[in-house]
Amino acid sequence: QVEMISLSDAHKKFFEVGACLSSESIKRHGAIIKKHFNCAVAENAMKWEPIEPQTGIFTFGEADEIVKFTKDNQMTLRAHAPIWHMAVPDELFVDGDKPASREILIERIDSHMKAFCEHFKGQISSWDVVNEAINDFPGEDLRQSKWLELIGPDYLDISYHIARKYAPDIQLFYNDYNEFVPFKRERMLRLVKGMLDRGVPLDGMGLQAHVNIVECNLDEYERTVEAFASLGLRIHITEMDVNPYSLRDRVFPPSSPITEEMHHKQAELYRGIFDICRRYSDTVDAVLTWGVADDMTWLDDLFCPGREHQALLFDKDHKIKKWTEQIIEDA
Ligand code: XIL
Repeated sequence: QVEMISLSDAHKKFFEVGACLSSESIKRHGAIIKKHFNCAVAENAMKWEPIEPQTGIFTFGEADEIVKFTKDNQMTLRAHAPIWHMAVPDELFVDGDKPASREILIERIDSHMKAFCEHFKGQISSWDVVNEAINDFPGEDLRQSKWLELIGPDYLDISYHIARKYAPDIQLFYNDYNEFVPFKRERMLRLVKGMLDRGVPLDGMGLQAHVNIVECNLDEYERTVEAFASLGLRIHITEMDVNPYSLRDRVFPPSSPITEEMHHKQAELYRGIFDICRRYSDTVDAVLTWGVADDMTWLDDLFCPGREHQALLFDKDHKIKKWTEQIIEDA
């Protein structure tokens, strides 16, 4: 039997291919990662709380392990994501018994990013500075968060300027999800166009690609890639998984088990999105999935606990899936 060429080798002339990593996934999925991937991102280890659980106290343990693993295996590393409405310690937003002032919070962002950039100097190529700042519901474009409440809508601009000050050589990304939903895409476009017009140092757009076979289709996905490419931003597909269930269907037990038909649609979306990325490879520099194999995914653990989603490129026995082999052949 002939050994198949790897996902990353098959895409060498297009873009890098990778996945999010943790200590646990390096242990469990090390062999797959080394064979198939040439880039990576920390699933949680580089978010604010794991890095600075208490103001001024820094813990780099798991992040360092991921840096070492990627370095030993010649992989490019993305960082993700300090300014988010999750994985932030509560005490970050208070000053004694009152809410932190705008000035104090900006000062804390400054110290955090300074320490982060000094520690990881030379190890990171791109960084999701702000993650998921947009509101998914009617109303304001920006999501309600402590960042917005305490600093104001310019917390994004400020964060990127601080990041650039300490990371002149890292590509700075904005990262968000539901990028294929027209009204969300419009909000994302408005946000980043505004930043570019104001001269905010933004180099790239992270499209999470948490897609599903019900709400997402390839025409909308291509429109999204096209729209961001035309702004002159680099594009990374940052967190891909292809959910066989609708986002609205987050109940357990699932209303229906995963059928052949659903698997077929998952395969179509996977191959189709890789195909779009290959066609826009002038702009798309990386495609990463949010997990390596089906035995370890946030969808089963967090998004809809207890349900199997089978949304990744390798199955729970760590075998390569049919659709993954097809993606390699398509390339
Ligand atoms: C998720 C992780 O996968 C989980 O382990 C953690 O408990 C919560 O965060 N969008 C993002 C990622 O930008 O950071 C999220 O990661 C998944 C959704």
